[in-house]
Amino acid sequence: MNSMVDAALRAVLPNAQAFREAMAQVASATHIVTTLGPGGRSGLTATAVSSVSVAPPTMLVCIEAASRTLSAIEESGIFCINTLAAADHELAAVFSGQRGLAGEERFAAGKWGELSTGAPVLASALASFDCRVSAVHRVTTHRILIGQVVAIGGGGSGPGLVYRHRRFGGF
Ligand SMILES: Cc1cc2nc3c(=O)[nH]c(=O)nc-3n(C[C@H](O)[C@H](O)[C@H](O)COP(=O)(O)O)c2cc1C
Repeated sequence: MNSMVDAALRAVLPNAQAFREAMAQVASATHIVTTLGPGGRSGLTATAVSSVSVAPPTMLVCIEAASRTLSAIEESGIFCINTLAAADHELAAVFSGQRGLAGEERFAAGKWGELSTGAPVLASALASFDCRVSAVHRVTTHRILIGQVVAIGGGGSGPGLVYRHRRFGGF
């Protein structure tokens, strides 16, 4: 075996640091997941998003238990996944808390409307998946929210916002 193969096959214990480093290699689309709860609008930046099935159209998002948006989604039963264009990288920073804003304050930037459920829809998103919660699974520190897609939007265009190596870029 050559040294490259040796390195590739060397097992590393999956501690938190090794896991984070490995995940930093994974390029992910960036989304803002929103809801309209009893306390108003809230939303967070999320990369742990995936499609589940086409028929019926179903998506999932993994959200940390401490998230304020998670509590609001659990109460409202609705959420919208807004897939970001590269031009909206500042919104990704705002909705991840990097600008010190929370809840309704985060919606001061961007143009927002709604589709079917009432969850906030970003006009410049490349795609918006408006969902009703169909299941919630508790897994360790997170909740996996499964959503049935009830409406689709997306007025944006251009490159998508990709997150890799703890940085945003366009693809
Ligand atoms: C690029 C990026 C991706 C993120 N992805 C997720 C995610 O998939 N799930 C999650 O719970 N938090 C994720 N976060 C962290 C949340 O955006 C952040 O904790 C946010 O402030 C939570 O807001 P809330 O408490 O108002 O819901 C991510 C942060 C960044 C910068």
